[in-house]
Amino acid sequence: MNILITGGAGFIGSHTADKLVTLGHNVRILDALRHPIHLKGFPKYLDKTKVEFIFGDVRDRSVLEFALTGIDVVYHLAAYQDYLPDYATFTHINAYSTSLIYEIIEQKKLPVRKVIVASSQAVMGEGRYLCEEHGFFYPNIRSDNQLQLKEWNHLCPVCKKALVLQKSDETVINPQNPYAMSKYMQEMLAINLGRRIGIPSVAMRYSIVQGPRQSFYNTYSGACRIFSLCNYLKKRPTIYEDGMMLRDYVNVHDVVDANVMVMEKSEADFNVFNVGAGQTWTVNEFAGIVASVFNTEIGTTMPGEYRYGDTRHIFSDTAKLQSLGWKPQRTIRDSVAEYKTYLEGQLDIEDIVDFAEKNMRSLGVIRKAIV
Ligand SMILES: NC(=O)c1ccc[n+]([C@@H]2O[C@H](COP(=O)([O-])OP(=O)(O)OC[C@H]3O[C@@H](n4cnc5c(N)ncnc54)[C@H](O)[C@@H]3O)[C@@H](O)[C@H]2O)c1
Repeated sequence: MNILITGGAGFIGSHTADKLVTLGHNVRILDALRHPIHLKGFPKYLDKTKVEFIFGDVRDRSVLEFALTGIDVVYHLAAYQDYLPDYATFTHINAYSTSLIYEIIEQKKLPVRKVIVASSQAVMGEGRYLCEEHGFFYPNIRSDNQLQLKEWNHLCPVCKKALVLQKSDETVINPQNPYAMSKYMQEMLAINLGRRIGIPSVAMRYSIVQGPRQSFYNTYSGACRIFSLCNYLKKRPTIYEDGMMLRDYVNVHDVVDANVMVMEKSEADFNVFNVGAGQTWTVNEFAGIVASVFNTEIGTTMPGEYRYGDTRHIFSDTAKLQSLGWKPQRTIRDSVAEYKTYLEGQLDIEDIVDFAEKNMRSLGVIRKAIV
């Protein structure tokens, strides 16, 4: 099949491209090589002899029309990410481009057979919690006042006891930031426009994806990247809050397997799927795993800081995707070990570790508790 991957020069897109090529598909990539993701130019891991590369923006109608011509399946992975304050850019890139894909397919009567869009666990916001006495809650982000007092947990609004995290399935929708809202828009546009014009469509709500090729310069992502770089450069990593935040880090190759499966199976059509690890780790545990893979004893530092807008805990229920036959195969150590090898192959990385942190400090995202 002829497959277009928007954002195919990026982390998940390039791994998806590699897999599809090995399966015998023809892959075309449309990517604008945006900064800071590709700060150092065309990524070395992309092989132009194996994939067709189009340089362009997914918001550009003529480029998108050209890229969609002759295509059977579209993976729409290009996106504006990070939790940055230019709110309008999230909808302008993420939602607008998704609508444009369907608009062009309909107007040009293109024979596209399926569209798969990248959504995010962020759509679920803070997720689902339980108070044994007062039932389920879907909290909003924690207030700055609460975090200043180092009250990290979500509290039951009735009895004020700490709420207990539950798995969130695909019915949980409570996006809390512009990125998450734009991802929810992408889901709605894909599923509902897909239905309207008869193009099978699927939205994939990835958890935190880990593995090599994740940009060194994303401001607000990549615990694996940050902890690995710190261990590699022997710089003690900063842990925000108390490090007890739960996350379900998923390996990029498991994500690729899920991407391929939903392309192949018609049972997936017109559905949203969580794609996560099926288990959680605290940030402290994750930092410990990275240190053990790097065989270092530099420890961590916990200065009582927090990132305003961070999720306390999140855990995706992946039962729906697993019912189609997918299940995560790689461990978190696999993700870190592969990342370590990737990192060791890089030149010129000394500047990277401070890049994201400086950016977040200048944006006022990192704040210090007063107690
Ligand atoms: N990595 C994760 O943990 C994660 C988690 C949840 C959801 N997602 C989603 O998965 C998708 C892929 O994420 P990733 O981690 O591979 O990101 P990435 O930043 O590595 O790759 C995104 C690619 O899109 C390209 N791009 C961005 N804006 C573009 C535009 N306007 N026109 C053309 N190309 C553009 C970038 O140049 C980049 O190559 C995104 O939609 C993201 O929101 C990722």
